[in-house]
Order: sequence, then C-alpha cells, then structure tokens
Amino acid sequence: MPGTCVIGLQWGDEAKGKLVDLLAPNFDIVCRFLGGSNAGHTVVTGDTTYKLHLIPSGILNAETTNVIAPGVVLNPGTIIDELNGLTAQGLTTDNLLISERVHVVFPWHIAEDKLLNAKKIKGESIGTTLRGIGPCYCDKVGRSFAIRLGDMYRDDFADRVRSIVEAKNAILIGIGGDDSEPLEAEAIIAEYSGYAEALKSYVRDTTHFMLDAVDDGCSILFEGAQGALLDIDHGTFPFVTSSNSSGVGVSGGSGIPARHINKVIGVIKAYSTRVGGGPFPTEQDNEDGQRLRELGNEYGTTTGRPRRCGWFDAVAVRYTSRLSGATALSLMMMDVISQIPEVKICVAYELDGERITNFPCDADDLRRVKPIYETYAGWDTDLTNTTNYDEFPQAAKDYVARIAELVGVPVEVVSVGPDRAQTIVLTDGVTALAGLNS
Ligand code: GDP
Ligand code: IMO
Ligand code: MG
Repeated sequence: MPGTCVIGLQWGDEAKGKLVDLLAPNFDIVCRFLGGSNAGHTVVTGDTTYKLHLIPSGILNAETTNVIAPGVVLNPGTIIDELNGLTAQGLTTDNLLISERVHVVFPWHIAEDKLLNAKKIKGESIGTTLRGIGPCYCDKVGRSFAIRLGDMYRDDFADRVRSIVEAKNAILIGIGGDDSEPLEAEAIIAEYSGYAEALKSYVRDTTHFMLDAVDDGCSILFEGAQGALLDIDHGTFPFVTSSNSSGVGVSGGSGIPARHINKVIGVIKAYSTRVGGGPFPTEQDNEDGQRLRELGNEYGTTTGRPRRCGWFDAVAVRYTSRLSGATALSLMMMDVISQIPEVKICVAYELDGERITNFPCDADDLRRVKPIYETYAGWDTDLTNTTNYDEFPQAAKDYVARIAELVGVPVEVVSVGPDRAQTIVLTDGVTALAGLNS
C-alpha cells in the first residue's frame, strides 16, 4: 500500500493545502491526522478559493475519501460551518469521515486558551490562534476532563459535561479569570447535542476503516498541518503547537503504522514565515520582511494576523527534513522570491563565536544565534505564467539547486503562484510525485 505524507518543514503555512489538493486525485484516501482549527489551508483553482481548517484539502476531489483521524482535536461548530461553506460552494461532502476517537474542543478550552495565552513564557506570549487547541490536548493527555466525539452519543454525555463544567469554572477563576462569565453546562449540552446530531452521518471508526483499506491495497495521502518547527517535542518549544506536527506524528495521529509510509514530501517556502511568538533566527523585521509580506500576501488564513517574514533558513529545514524523513521537497512561492532584488539563504548559525549547523534545542539559544548568509543577486523575472522549469532564469535554478543541496533532498515541485495550475512538477508526472510508481 503506498502511503505518502505532505509535511510542512517550517513554521506552518508552507502551502501544504495546495499540494494536497494537487495530489489527492491519485489517492483513495486523504487523511488529516493532527491539529485542529488552528490550521488554515487555502486552495485556489481558477476563480474559486477554498479555505479549509479541519476538513482535508482532498475534499475538492469527490472520488477521494477524506478522513479526520484520531490525532485531530475537533471543534464541531467550526467543522459544521466549514461543511456548510463547502456545500454552498457546490462541493459534495459525502466523502468525509470523522473518527469517533477525535477529542472535542469545548468552550472551556477556548476560555483557557485566552487566559493562558495572555501570560508570558520566557518574556513572550506564545501567540496561539486562540482556538482552544493546547487546552484540549492537555485534557486529552490528562484524561479526567476529556470528551471524545464518540462520547457525545452516549447516555452519560450530559452528566459528564455538568461535572467538567463545575471543575472548569473553578479552574478558570484559578488561572486568573475572576471576571470571566461562568460557563453554563445546560447551554453547552444543548449546543453540543445539536452538533452531535448534525455530524452523526460522518462519524466512524476510521482506524479500522483505514487499516482495512491498507489490507485492501488502497493508497493513503497523509495531510500535515502546522509545520515541523511547531512540533511539541521537536520544535521551538515552548513556542510550538500542542501536537507532533513533524513527520514523526503521522503514525501516532492516523493509526497507520510507519512501515506503510514510503514517501514524505516536505513543503517549504522559498523564504520563511512565522505567526505568533518565539525565536525566528532569519526574521527580517525591516523593509525586506515587509516586502516579502506584501508580495507573498503573508496574512494568516485563520486569524488574519500579519506573518513575520525572513530569509530561507537551511539550518532549520535540514533539521526538520531529517526529522520528518523527507524524501522530496516541494518549493513554494518561487514567484514571490523572484521579485526580490537581492536574496539570502542562511547556511549556518554562529552561537557564542562558534559556527554551528545543527538546530539548537533551546529557545533562548535560538534567540541568540546569528545567521550566516549566502547572498544572491535576484533575477527580477515574473515566473507566474511559467509552466516549464527549463524557462526559469539560471539564477532561479541555482537558488533552487542550492536549497536542495543544503537540505540534502531533491526538489520535485516548484510553485509559482496560488493557483493549482501554477505548479511545476519536476518528476515524470504527478503519479511519480505522489510516490505511486513503485
Ligand atoms: P498551508 O497552511 O500550509 O496550507 O498554507 P496556507 O494556505 O495557510 O498559506 C499559503 C498561502 O500561499 C495561500 O494563500 C496559498 O493560496 C498561497 N500560495 C500557495 N502557493 C503559492 C505560490 O507558489 N505563490 C504564491 N504567491 N502564493 C502561493
Ligand atoms: P497551518 O496548518 C501557522 C502557531 C500559532 C502559534 C502556535 C501555537 O495553516 O500551517 P496553537 O493555536 O496551535 O496553540 O498556536 O502555533 N500555529 C500556526 N502557525 N500555521 C498553522 O497551521 C498554525 N497552527 C498553529 O500561530 O504561534
Ligand atoms: Mg495555513
């Protein structure tokens, strides 16, 4: 069974959604395995733009089954809005399955996220998306206050909410929410029972569904969310999200053993962006960063926040590529970098007078590193209508080749604009890119 993964290798928003949409028609199943509505994936085809948060980006392809696997945390109100939005845009959503094992985001998670995010760690706020993601994962790991989607269909659901609300009201006051309105259990029960009813037809034991599909030889595309530098264990902790967003998270979140995965496509931008707090060694908090933001329209899909922008960081991406087991790279936003007069790639850091190429573990060390750059003259060419890589200026090809060399993984896709059509596949067709030739 061919299993292929699409994983962001930076701090999210690498255009994973665009790549998943391109590959989806080649797969039987597209599986989202982590995160929640903190993610925002934009897919553009012709005049239509789709914004997805929880639903896999394979949904545009009616032939592919889209699975939301156990590792996801689900806000049911948000997914219902998303489903309604897609239906209004003329898409079918009958091909969506949601695991009964996903943990449910409740209003107390969002209230906790607001209170906790206001607090500083190491002098800075995490700058979460305020979607209740961290608190929901905390409750999942803590177990006592957790509710899974399947639990919402059981007789003791209302009683569980009542007892959790009682505890959570005390916790919210304890963490500094003295003036917050107390949560009303009965209102939450009524609201969430309505959601449960509306979602019923989608809910399934997706773990057995996918394991059976594997036995039957079906192909699965695993859709990452966030980016590997936001991984809870391996990213720029504590300025990370609350799940394993690098390649190491695929099996845990989906329930499909690693031995079924034979290709990992790491998605990268030709520069770097980050939303929220935390160290960002190559950040350009200056005119260069501003130019990248405007040319790349770097504003968050989920929160609308301006993204912090900077140069491509080969130290960081080599690390996340190795960590994620990337076997191919998809290099996005080449049209954006092509409008910059002089471009830089960070090839190493200097820390305490020493040149290092391993990505440091500590956020304070990462704040102190000085990037060592290679500088290239820009190529000032509009690539947005280019469909043939041979037509790229030599300087642009050199830039692509240098990134591949520094990361140690071949570039198999180059993207020159948001539209599905603005994608140049360097392998022998999309089937080879999808990893389905072997
Ligand atoms: P994701 O979260 O990784 O799926 O990425 P987002 O959708 O949040 O952010 C990527 C943004 O870049 C979206 O608005 C895409 O439509 C857009 N995009 C994707 N590829 C390209 C590209 O090659 N060039 C430009 N200019 N925009 C792109
Ligand atoms: P996609 O899938 C970019 C960031 C937040 C914050 C940190 C923790 O679109 O690439 P959280 O709400 O998860 O507790 O916030 O992680 N973050 C993202 N940044 N793209 C995302 O998703 C993100 N999901 C979370 O900005 O810094
Ligand atoms: Mg995004």
